[in-house]
Amino acid sequence: MNIAVIGAQWGDEGKGKIVDLLTRHVSVVARYQGGHNAGHTVNVGDAQFILHLLPSGILHAGVRCVIGNGVVVDPVALFAEIETLSRQGIDVGDRLLISDKAHVILPYHRELEVLAEARRGDRKIGTTSRGIGPSYEDKVARRGIRIADLGDHSDDGPLAAAIRENVSARNRAVGGTEVDWRVVHAEARSVWPRLESWVGDASLFLARAMDDGARVLFEGAQGTMLDIDHGTYPFVTSSNGTVGGICTGLGVGPKAIGGVLGIAKAYTTRVGEGPLPTELHGDMGDQLRESGNEYGASTGRPRRCGWYDAVVVRYAVRVNGLDAIAVTKLDVLDALDAIPLCTGYRYGGELLTEFPSNGAVLAGCEPVYETLPGWSRPTAGVRRYEDLPPEARSYLERIETVTGLPIAIVSTGADRADTIVVRDGLIARWQADAAVPASVL
Ligand code: GDP
Ligand code: IMO
Ligand code: MG
Repeated sequence: MNIAVIGAQWGDEGKGKIVDLLTRHVSVVARYQGGHNAGHTVNVGDAQFILHLLPSGILHAGVRCVIGNGVVVDPVALFAEIETLSRQGIDVGDRLLISDKAHVILPYHRELEVLAEARRGDRKIGTTSRGIGPSYEDKVARRGIRIADLGDHSDDGPLAAAIRENVSARNRAVGGTEVDWRVVHAEARSVWPRLESWVGDASLFLARAMDDGARVLFEGAQGTMLDIDHGTYPFVTSSNGTVGGICTGLGVGPKAIGGVLGIAKAYTTRVGEGPLPTELHGDMGDQLRESGNEYGASTGRPRRCGWYDAVVVRYAVRVNGLDAIAVTKLDVLDALDAIPLCTGYRYGGELLTEFPSNGAVLAGCEPVYETLPGWSRPTAGVRRYEDLPPEARSYLERIETVTGLPIAIVSTGADRADTIVVRDGLIARWQADAAVPASVL
């Protein structure tokens, strides 16, 4: 059974850690959307790896990693990431396959993004300045440059024409010193020799691998609430991190997706602007940020923190068809003697239990909390469910009740080993299917 790992909140839920944990049961890990706006952290002993564009499965020798057509690729950032990994002892070698249809991020995309954010003023999105949005804009406007196009080495071929046109649009938009399209063209072409051996038909590769019995893990970036269609628009990223993005972003059919695991922290965070109904301002927000080390893995920006929002996670269950959830960072709540959990929103005189699809309604919502007792002792590093304090178990069981889904995994620390596989369910079924002993996880 192939499995998808998808963020159920606003990103940074700990997807990297869970993907890494599950990778030992698969032979292929595939990214289907986003780009190097993602920052997926994996801690193994004293070593820390942060994956941006490469699937987190790259850390496991022998695992093939796919960057699908739905991803936007900055070749320079990709090379830098590969070099960092190589310094850390991870060799990408021939394990990477980049879809020839993936779109490329070039320097003018970053410039246009910075300009667009500045023009938005107070309405800025708080993007990562990686050029993600403008590259997807070019794709949808049908003027984008795809990975395979970089192999066109003629001076006046389609690549030159596209870059000339796009740079001239950039010069009109940005003003100031004009960029010479020939320089951009030369740089874009120069990456090809290094890139070429990794480029191919990702859809065909996946189809053949699955026919041969390979098990695939689909690694989502960002999260449900940052999805271009289902997130808190316009404060979202420019791709579909929700489950549908797997089919369009890799060229696989829906039946290829055997199980969908949603990842959610034991509380909520978001980085950048936009609504966050359970946001905590003041000391409690600072406390969560510090105990959770809530600073962006890509940009270092402080993350906004709030209580667990079951309305949001229930929404993620619905739009992704989640089969189970993983709860991460339970240990971050260790010091609290009481923990509020949001189960609905008050809107005017009404109680809403479903996430409003209308932004204006959301803006008028007040979270409704129930408060559960804290456990005021460490869960950090606990690896067996029965070793959790009873209050921590009650908190988790309440999450299961209010989200309507079983919890498959609880994470109690950043390290790969600080993990509890809760009980039968998605992961156990998956293990059985993979003929991997349950003790492995
Ligand atoms: P991703 O983008 O979803 O992969 O998540 P990030 O890597 O951006 O952010 C999650 C952060 O939490 C990383 O620094 C992880 O090392 C860390 N982390 C993951 N799980 C746990 C956990 O259970 N406890 C603690 N304390 N940290 C965790
Ligand atoms: P991972 O995969 C958290 C946010 C940005 C901004 C909005 C749009 O690590 O969970 P963009 O640069 O994508 O146009 O920015 O989306 N954002 C993320 N927030 N985790 C991420 O990725 C994010 N990727 C983008 O902060 O609010
Ligand atoms: Mg992240």
